[in-house]
Amino acid sequence: MTHDVCLIAGDGIGPEITHAAQRVLAAAGAKINWIPLHAGAEAIERYGSVAPNETLDAVRRHKVALKGPTTTPIGTGHTSANVQLRQKLHLYAAVRPVRSIAGIKTRYDNVEIVVIRENTEGLYSGIENEIVPGVMQTLKIATRTGCERIARFGFHYAQERKRRKVTVFHKANIMKKTDGLFLECCRRIHAEIAAEIEYEELIIDNACMQLVRDPSRFDVLLMENFYGDIVSDLCAGMVGGLGVAPGANFGDECAVFEAVHGSAPDIAGRGIANPLSIIMSGVMMLNHLGEHACAERIKAAYDGALSGGRPEERTLDIGGTATTEQFADALIRRME
Ligand code: NAI
Repeated sequence: MTHDVCLIAGDGIGPEITHAAQRVLAAAGAKINWIPLHAGAEAIERYGSVAPNETLDAVRRHKVALKGPTTTPIGTGHTSANVQLRQKLHLYAAVRPVRSIAGIKTRYDNVEIVVIRENTEGLYSGIENEIVPGVMQTLKIATRTGCERIARFGFHYAQERKRRKVTVFHKANIMKKTDGLFLECCRRIHAEIAAEIEYEELIIDNACMQLVRDPSRFDVLLMENFYGDIVSDLCAGMVGGLGVAPGANFGDECAVFEAVHGSAPDIAGRGIANPLSIIMSGVMMLNHLGEHACAERIKAAYDGALSGGRPEERTLDIGGTATTEQFADALIRRME
């Protein structure tokens, strides 16, 4: 079966890594009709928007997208394409699986964690203003609807994948209203639909300390937007960094699979970026599309390449010598 999949190459290294990912998915036998779309800084010139209606409509229509990173200026300038895509497409759940990979040496060799992050509320409401000169505020929003749907998603995810435990990270001792509502919803949904799964709550600062001391005590992590943003990168760092961790954003209508790192302007255009994050996200996408055999083929290829330890089968950022395309070639050879 041929699948229509939207392709948002994005900014910086985005076009380089998405091109490599397209080649690898094709070599695995995935039949994909790619629909190229625009978002991010590169979309502004053409459409005057970081998340043009044409892009949003196409993703709504085709339901699945693979996305490269998009640039967001710091402090000033245009808003984040990611935040807009997530809010406008109601992609309320971000899923970031993080696992130790043989051949990538880190301080830990036993990490097997999934971070589930609420993706549309919290401090990412985009509601900011200057109350009086010199006093700024950003509003943190939590709604019962938003908290309940991410809790439901999180426990369903844990059940479907036969995970043993869900830990909710929060700061409800200080943010009694917003994080308090988040906790209340998690407790109730857990009791209602997933009482067989072990349930734990940890205050976010203690949780981070526990994570770096012993990640093996964690399984599925569930949290609001801002904590999830930080904790998912922290977890990626435990297994080798942002270059080796995939990500996906789910709503009830569509799903966007994306590289978790940024547009890496410092190395853009040099052909040396590691395409593994978006390739791994492509594997998540193939599983979502029911193409499990293709997904397994790619996973076996990169697991083999990385555990083999040959410098020509890994990119510079993880101690190898391969360029973006050479790494893609190495995976393709392993699938032949
Ligand atoms: P970044 O992830 O782009 O880069 C951080 C460091 O990691 C840089 O040294 C970069 O060269 C390196 N790096 C990142 N991806 C790599 C890859 N695939 N292979 C090899 N090295 C890689 O983060 P930074 O510098 O904070 O942000 C740059 C831009 O990216 C900003 O405009 C930011 O808003 C945007 N960004 C976009 C994201 C997205 O679209 N999902 C996520 C994070 C940042």
